[in-house]
Formats: sequence, structure tokens, C-alpha cells
Amino acid sequence: MATFFSSRDSRDTLEEATRPSAPNPERVSRPTETRQKEAVEQLKARLGEDRVTRIALNFLDKWMGVHLKDGVIDWMHGRRIGMCGHEAVNFGSDSFLGFDQDARVQAAIVDGMREWGTHNGASRAFGNIALCEEAERRLASWMGVEDTLIYPSVTLANIGLLPALAGKGDLLVLDRKSHDSLHQSARIAEGNGAKVVILDPCNGVALRQILEAEDYEGCVVAVDGIYSMTGEMPPLGELDEVTRAHGGILYVDDAHGTGLVGPKGRGAASMLLDSLDNALVVGSLSKAFSCLGAFVTCDAKLKRILKIRSSTFIFGGPVPPPYLAGICKVCDILESPEHDEHLRRLRQMVDQLISGIRGLGLKMYGGEAAIIAVTIGDIEQTFKAGKALFDRGYYVQSATYPAVPIMGGVLRIQVNANHTPEDIAGLLKGLAELKSKFGLGGN
Ligand SMILES: Cc1ncc(COP(=O)(O)O)c(C=O)c1O
Repeated sequence: MATFFSSRDSRDTLEEATRPSAPNPERVSRPTETRQKEAVEQLKARLGEDRVTRIALNFLDKWMGVHLKDGVIDWMHGRRIGMCGHEAVNFGSDSFLGFDQDARVQAAIVDGMREWGTHNGASRAFGNIALCEEAERRLASWMGVEDTLIYPSVTLANIGLLPALAGKGDLLVLDRKSHDSLHQSARIAEGNGAKVVILDPCNGVALRQILEAEDYEGCVVAVDGIYSMTGEMPPLGELDEVTRAHGGILYVDDAHGTGLVGPKGRGAASMLLDSLDNALVVGSLSKAFSCLGAFVTCDAKLKRILKIRSSTFIFGGPVPPPYLAGICKVCDILESPEHDEHLRRLRQMVDQLISGIRGLGLKMYGGEAAIIAVTIGDIEQTFKAGKALFDRGYYVQSATYPAVPIMGGVLRIQVNANHTPEDIAGLLKGLAELKSKFGLGGN
């Protein structure tokens, strides 16, 4: 623990450090405001020179008006949106079960606000509200685990959890294709002394080679449950088997599987693992749940430990009470037979889209949950293909480098349970036109 006066401070250095510096005549002659403006200009120039920033800014300038990344949604009604003066069907929403539009979820959020106010205004390290405890219990019961711990987002869960789980003497194996937030979290864990090894390709053989070659005290293997850009699933079953055999634990960021796949919609890990007893699963409360936040599965003992080891839990704010009330309402729906009906509708839409895309002979990935990616390839073509669909009234996301490999641009399509068969048929018609216009190849 750092103290304010460290043992390195001598009386002299302390005095020196606190002594006002002699005025710089050049500085004194220029007003403070002018100097600050110059410093900000220099900062922007320096940041703009960074290679990745320069490349990204060049993309945006070069394809201005085509990439849709600056597009502002002016209104939403069901899955229809008004954007850039057009009306379009939105295939870019993570609200996979359509709960963003569900009157019961909306009412629960409003009621939660009336009862608890907009925010309880303190980090959970200082205390908790009963509604948060209830939401954690409800999530644990739905997931079939002993307990859960809620964080304000999946990113903050990952940043709080990975460095809490792996430190000095430990090994953290990270799937190369996993979400950026896992990579950022791994950097913090590495800074704390963990050894980080990248898993590529992501399979049991490659993982075994790593685990057999390394010495470690504890070991965490971190992967996505469903890759966010392509909708594909890593082989969680074989990763779990190898991880267990080598005394490690599997950490699954299941942001895009939560509520959608596996028994009771408990996610990709529940679908592909025999049991969650050797895994920590992070689920999203913002995507299929359409509320806000994330949770990690745990037992009561681990929960206590995580509460004192996760920096984002201690030093950050909580999920506001209205959303906790919304999460409890979504749990009611997920625990009821109605959930099966939502999943059936979603599957029907996904299957219609998959068979249409296959029928067109386009190259596609995913579709296990609700994300489907159609390969375009080149960055410019990917932006143009997305814009051509938008002009026809269908909004999909053009996913390009660095979210995917440099020539691996895809149209990322997010299917929602409240899309209609007509929405899907219209999108397929648009894709058929793209095929001839862009000369897209087959599988
Ligand atoms: C796998 C994965 N992890 C984390 C995130 C970030 O989630 P959040 O917005 O809750 O921080 C995403 C976002 O799409 C994701 O796909």
C-alpha cells in the first residue's frame, strides 16, 4: 500500500517538491488560457499521429457518408428506426429477445425508479440495496448456480475479474479472438505479475500444449462464449476438459449467449459444458436482457473474495436501481414458459435468414445464437455493402478491421425475436442484390 510520505522522501526532497518553482519569463508573458489551448492542440496532434488512430480516421474521412458510423438514430418504433433521413429495419440491436420494447420490463424499470429513485449514489463497497441482492439471487436461480455478482457492464466485469483471478505466479491463457475487454483486462493482470499466453488457434490441442509447457500456481483460461463479430462459438467443451485436467478454471465471457442458447437460455457455456462447477460465466444484462450490467456466476465464498479483489466493483458505481428492477422482471419471463416462445420465434427468424443466405450461396458464419456474419472482405466494399442495404431500408453493421482481420470485413446481422418473416425476406432480397452488385462468392 502506498503511503503519502514514502520512506524515500527526505526532508530536502520534500521541501524541493513543495517549493514553488521559479517563474518562467516566457510563460509568464503569455496568458494561461493561450498556453492551455496550445497544449490541447499539441495533444490532439500527438494523438492523431498514432498509427492506428491515423488509419481509423483516414477510413472515416475516406468513406464519409458510406460507413454509417456517425449515423444518429432519431426515432425507434419496434425494430424500425429513423436514421440519416431514412426509415430502416434495425438489424443492429443486441436486444435479441425484443425486451427493450416489452411493456412489462419498461413498467418494472419505471416502478423501480419511483421506489428507489434514479440512483442510490454509492459504490457497492460502501453498501448495497436489497434490490441488488434480490437481482443476484434471481440470476443465480435462473442460471442454476449458488450465487452471482453484478457489475455495471461486461467490460467492467472483465476488467474487475481477470486481474482479481490471476496475478503473480499465475498463468492466464487468452483466446486471441476474444473480445477487446478481455485483452485489456489481461494487460492489467499481466501488469500485476500474471503470465499471459495467447491461445491461437482456439482448440483443445493448442491449449494442452500451452498448459504442458508452462509452470504456474493458478491458471485461468479466458474465452468468449460467442464471438461478437461472427456469431461463432469456440469449442468450449474441449477447452473445459483440458483446463480441468491441468488444474485451471475456464472463464467464459458469454455476453452474446446470455438468455439465448442452452437449457433455459443460460448461455453457450451451459450448452456446451457438462457442468459449470469449474467455470466462471459472465453474462450480459444489457443485450438479451435489454437492461444494464453484467453478472458472474460464483458461490458465496468466491463472491466475498471477488467483492474485495475486483477494482471495478470497489471503485466504480453500481447498476442503478431502476435497471435492477428491470433485471428481476426479465428473470420472471426467463423462468416462465413464455421464454420458450421467444426462443422459438427467434430461432424461426434466424433459420429463415440462414437458409436464405445459404440459398444465395453467400459465405456466412454464426447463427448458433442470434448473430450472423456475411463475408464481404475488403474494407471499402464492406462499408459500401452496408450502405447499399441501408439505402434499401435495412440497417446492418459493417464490421471491419480492427474488429475483424484486415481483409475479413463482414456484414454483422443481429436477429431479434420481434423481427418479422417479412423483415427477413426483405433483408434477403437486399442481400441477393448485393451478391450481383459486389460479385460476392459462395461458401
Ligand atoms: C464478448 C463481449 N464481451 C464484452 C462486451 C462489452 O459489453 P458491455 O457493453 O456490457 O461492456 C461485448 C459487447 O458487445 C461482447 O461482445
